[in-house]
Amino acid sequence: MSVLTKSEVLDILRHKTGRDMPENVVQQKADTVMRIQELKVEMNAVILGHNYMKPGLFYTVPDFRGDSLDLCRKAAQTDKDYIVFCGVRFMAETAKLLNPDKTVLLPAEKAGCSLAEGITAADVRELRRQFPGVPVVTYVNTYADVKAESDICCTSGNAVAVVESLNSDTVIFLPDEYLAGNVAKETSRHIIFPKKSGRPISPDTNLDYFMIGWDARCEVHEQFIVADIENIRQQFPDTLVLAHPECSPDVVAAADFSGSTNQLIKAVADSDAPHYLLLTECAMGDNIAAEYPEKDMLRLCSVRCPHMNEITLEETLLALENKQYVIDVPVDIAERARRAVNRMIAIG
Ligand code: 13P
Ligand code: SF4
Repeated sequence: MSVLTKSEVLDILRHKTGRDMPENVVQQKADTVMRIQELKVEMNAVILGHNYMKPGLFYTVPDFRGDSLDLCRKAAQTDKDYIVFCGVRFMAETAKLLNPDKTVLLPAEKAGCSLAEGITAADVRELRRQFPGVPVVTYVNTYADVKAESDICCTSGNAVAVVESLNSDTVIFLPDEYLAGNVAKETSRHIIFPKKSGRPISPDTNLDYFMIGWDARCEVHEQFIVADIENIRQQFPDTLVLAHPECSPDVVAAADFSGSTNQLIKAVADSDAPHYLLLTECAMGDNIAAEYPEKDMLRLCSVRCPHMNEITLEETLLALENKQYVIDVPVDIAERARRAVNRMIAIG
């Protein structure tokens, strides 16, 4: 993204943030953006911004904006010395895996994710022991030590293609229970959850076309229920309903379209439906509403991801000024995790 002038920044903050900010706050935020832009050039840094960043940040400082897959690819291609990741920790870790010699900064000390925290490397090793020879796919929403135990990673944008690329009747798919359920449906597999069922799979189970899942969930997307869709459709029957595949399979089945955050944005852009209901993190709805003011985005939610919410313009400035928080991955873990991420990227 080219450098914005102060008047362009003021215009964005006044008109794209969806709420009336007091003028003194607008001025302070504009100064913060201008200083971030200066430091970015001085430090030879690139800023990557996930689609869940709030509009005041999303439309000002990132050089590249996008979904997890898109930002993985951008991270793999950069020649900058510093990568500042305006997203959550597992995303910054993935950028580090792809750029072991560069400094990757995450503007918040923690910025976790309920999916990444829902499984450990030891859990994956135990599943491998129970299902020897079965390929392991892990969602990128995991930490590097979990990726290191897997054969290949996937994102919500390519999960079906990744599973199909394995040409294997049985697949272990971790850790998102709901994404696994949605991918199992699309790839015509039965799904089983050995941990949830609390009993080992019997040795004579015929595992043809099976998917073996885990029980982690996104704390944001699990909040959407089918009744949300039914209520909106009663009032506005011609609403286009879009759901992220981290929503439950029932919600996804009741929606008109499901896809990664980039795919959801594109679906709204390409449609001329009279109303839209977006079942995903709320800042993204604000970003779409700012980009397409003529489209009627129905406001159902105030469901913010608390982890994404930790990343602000102010924290991004501090990240550059203090070179914080540096993301590091131990070399032996990084090597194995990188293989799983690169194998995913190679799928295209
Ligand atoms: P995307 O890969 O679709 O951007 O999703 C990332 C995420 O964390 C969704 O909750
Ligand atoms: Fe993780 Fe859910 Fe937040 Fe995405 S929205 S980062 S999956 S907790």
